[in-house]
Amino acid sequence: MDSVVSTELVYQTGFGNEFATEALAGALPKRGNSPQKAPHGLYAELLSGTAFTVPRETNRRSWFYRIRPSAMHQPFEQIDSGLVKGAPFDNQPVSPNQMRWNPLPMPEAPTDFIDGLVTMMGGGDASTGQGLAVHLYTANASMTDRFFFNADGEMLIVPEQGRLTIHTEMGVIDIVPNEIAVVPRGIKFRIEVPDGMSRGYVCENYGAALRLPSLGPIGSNGLANPRDFETPIAAYEDREGDFTLTCKMGGNLWSAKIGHSPLDVVAWHGNYAPYKYDLADFNVIGSISFDHPDPSIFTVLTSPSNSAGTANIDFVIFPPRWMVAEDTYRPPWYHRNVMSEFMGLIHGQYDGRKEGFVPGGSSLHNCMSPHGNDAEVYETASTVELAPTYIKDTMAFMFETCMVYKPTKFAMETELMQKNYFECWQGLQKHFPGK
Ligand SMILES: [Fe+2]
Repeated sequence: MDSVVSTELVYQTGFGNEFATEALAGALPKRGNSPQKAPHGLYAELLSGTAFTVPRETNRRSWFYRIRPSAMHQPFEQIDSGLVKGAPFDNQPVSPNQMRWNPLPMPEAPTDFIDGLVTMMGGGDASTGQGLAVHLYTANASMTDRFFFNADGEMLIVPEQGRLTIHTEMGVIDIVPNEIAVVPRGIKFRIEVPDGMSRGYVCENYGAALRLPSLGPIGSNGLANPRDFETPIAAYEDREGDFTLTCKMGGNLWSAKIGHSPLDVVAWHGNYAPYKYDLADFNVIGSISFDHPDPSIFTVLTSPSNSAGTANIDFVIFPPRWMVAEDTYRPPWYHRNVMSEFMGLIHGQYDGRKEGFVPGGSSLHNCMSPHGNDAEVYETASTVELAPTYIKDTMAFMFETCMVYKPTKFAMETELMQKNYFECWQGLQKHFPGK
C-alpha cells in the first residue's frame, strides 16, 4: 500500500552535528551501524560525503535504514541537459568586462525545478573536486514522480520568489525567499512549488563541503550561529509506480526508471545531511570607528580550497544593518579583486547600486574586473552628512570564488544581458585638483 509517513516540518538544530532520527519507533539499530538484520526489515546503507579516512573533524557520513537499497533502479541513460552545463562551460572566451543580467522570465509551459535550471557560469571542474557552477532556476510545476540527485556537487539553493518544499531522503525542508537550503552531494530529493511560479539561484559546489567560517578574533559567537541551522527529522515515502530518477554527473543529465520512491529512508543517523538557514538570523558585524571591514565579514558559509585562507566558495550576504563610521565612504569602495564575484539580489535594493540590479537579476565581476558605485551613488555618499542610517529592505548575496568564472554561451548571448552596464561608471566626474 502506498503511504507517505511523517512529512511534518520538524527540524533538529545545529551545524554538522551527529543527528539521529527515526520516523518509525525502533527503526534505528540500538547498537552498531549495520546489524545482521536491521529493524523492521529495513536495509542499512552508508552514504559517504568525504573519503573514509578524512580526519574526524571534517569527516561527513550518514547511515540510512531504508525500505530498498539505492542500487535498485533500471540503468541510467543520458538525456538532453538543456541549458545545464558543466566544465568547460561551453568554452567561451572569458571576457574581462563587467557583466549584469536581468532576471529570467517565468516559464509558460509546465517546468519543474530540474527542467528550469539554467547554468550561467562556472569555474574549476567537478571531476577534479574543485570549483563551482552558478545556475538560475525557474519552476511552476512540482516534482511528484521525478527524483533527482547530483553526483557533481552539493547544491546551495537561494529562492528569490516562491516557496520550495524539498522532500529529501533524510526528511522535508521548506524554504521561502530570504531562507536558503543546502542539499549535500548525492542526496536524492524532489521539489514541490506550492506557490506556483518560483525563481532563484543555485550554487553548485564541487569542492569541500560548505561549513561555517572560522571566527578568529571575533571570538566564539557571531555571524551565522550554529543553533540557527535546521536539519529535518526522518520522513519517508512508501510509494510504488512508474517513476524517474534523474542524476547530474560530469555536467550531463541522466535518467533511470525506478519502480518505487527512492525517498524511503525510515531512519538515519550521521553528520552528512541537508539543512536550511534563515538569513534574517545572521548577526551582522561591522566597524564602530572608521572604515569598513572587508565583505568577508558577511560570510555565512565557506568552502575552503586547498590554499589556506582562500575560498573555493564564500557565500556572503549584504543584509539590513546599521551603517555609519567616522569620515568614511559608507557604500562599498571601488575595488578590483583576485577573487571572482557573482552577485544576486533576493529583495529590495543593493546599497552599491541605484538602479539596474533588480531582484532575480545577476552580476559578474570576474577576477581583476574593476567595479564600484555608479556616479549617482558616489556623489551622494561622498557628500552626505554622516549619521547612523539603517539600511532596510535589502538582501543581496555573493558567490565569491578563487576560480575565474567562465560564463556559458547562454549567459553571453542572452538578451537578458545588460549591454549598457558599463555606462554606469561613465558619469563619474574628475574632481582633481580639488579643495
Ligand atoms: Fe565587489
